[in-house]
Amino acid sequence: MNEKLESVKELLKKNNQEQLLDCYDTMDDKNKEMLLDDILTINFPQINELYRNKDKVDFSEDKIEPIDYVDKEKLSEEERKEIYSIGEEAIKNNELAIVTMAGGQGTRLGHSGPKGTYIMKDIDNKSIFELLCEKFKRGYEKFGVYVPWYIMTSKQNDATTRKFFKKNNYFGYPENNIIFFVQGELPVLDENGKLMLNTEGMVNKVSDGHGGIFSSLRESGNLYDMKSRGVKWVYIGGVDNIIANFIDPYLIGLCKKKGVSVGGKSVIKANPEERVGVFCKRNGKPAVIEYIEITKEMAEARNEDGELKMAEAHILCNMFSVDAIEQMEDKLPYHCQHKKVEYMNSDGEIVKPESPNGYKFESFLFDAFERFDDMAILRVKREEEFSPVKNAEGVDSPETATKLYKELNNMV
Ligand code: UD1
Repeated sequence: MNEKLESVKELLKKNNQEQLLDCYDTMDDKNKEMLLDDILTINFPQINELYRNKDKVDFSEDKIEPIDYVDKEKLSEEERKEIYSIGEEAIKNNELAIVTMAGGQGTRLGHSGPKGTYIMKDIDNKSIFELLCEKFKRGYEKFGVYVPWYIMTSKQNDATTRKFFKKNNYFGYPENNIIFFVQGELPVLDENGKLMLNTEGMVNKVSDGHGGIFSSLRESGNLYDMKSRGVKWVYIGGVDNIIANFIDPYLIGLCKKKGVSVGGKSVIKANPEERVGVFCKRNGKPAVIEYIEITKEMAEARNEDGELKMAEAHILCNMFSVDAIEQMEDKLPYHCQHKKVEYMNSDGEIVKPESPNGYKFESFLFDAFERFDDMAILRVKREEEFSPVKNAEGVDSPETATKLYKELNNMV
């Protein structure tokens, strides 16, 4: 232990992060060992680079334009049939897999567990995970295949999520078609670029966003698992949109017809302030500008007919070919958010800050779109496909989602 302690001290001194051992002497042996092991896994050059680039998102030099999309409602009967049957064939041939990004907690909902375990009281007390699973079971009735369902958890909620599925007998879905994998984490930094201790006295790390999904799929062996099942298309979506149409022939059909390897669904953005990303073309490449980063001017710009210029809201229902995922080797950029972070100070006291005191870094999977020349965007009806459960009340709440869910009950 002493040798390890000495090398950790040296490492921290070299990187100007000695504060991580401020509470070390007061810890028990088990926690001391855990802290030292944790520190030894930190990628210090990466930490320094993240802090240096924390203010970097800037579109001022970029050419941002609206992007082309296909409005599902405006397709002719013939086009609808053609696109549907291309997608239907792929689904029936077992070419589709679903990935649900479930690394988030239900904090905004006032729920302390993984968001997918949140109980929708007015939908027969079913959890979000159960509601999603029911849709996949209906997919089996419709297409005759159990689509493999990969669930991305975080280090924080992996064990709870797996236990929840086991306790509920995987909601009657074949267990070998539900596969869990864990996303990565990154340390939180304080305003001076120093690493922080969490409330347990360990290095404060949090999930590093869903942009790491491609490498997590590869490193967990699941990309190989998909290929060995014959999967060619991967639907990647958030956990909270309980009316999403996951097994949708139209989205695969459109990607295939257009000859592109990525696609996504949009709805018309409700108003400039809506907390959704928007699809656009950035320097000629497909992209999403996230709501925390769009400028007021860009969000409010309107066409001559009065409609929002940046109107294609990104609803986190995206499609990637397996080949596209395979090619995604380089890391996506990190976006930085200034947030309130609870921490343990050098006296071992827990501090609950009143204002933002820490930087959190996340990469976004949709930054991968810019690596492609083109993508397929399918504009769908909001009331049929987008009603996320995000806030305890008001917009995007259990109440609004329940209402739409009940109206659409039998859809896949
Ligand atoms: C997200 C999208 C936004 C879109 C909106 C639609 C991001 C960054 N933004 O916003 O463009 O318009 O949904 O509802 O996604 N997740 C993980 N691991 C992480 C972070 C998130 O698995 O490290 C999962 C969450 O569990 C959730 C999803 O990703 O299922 C979206 O995350 P959330 O933080 O809820 O994003 P929003 O701010 O709602």
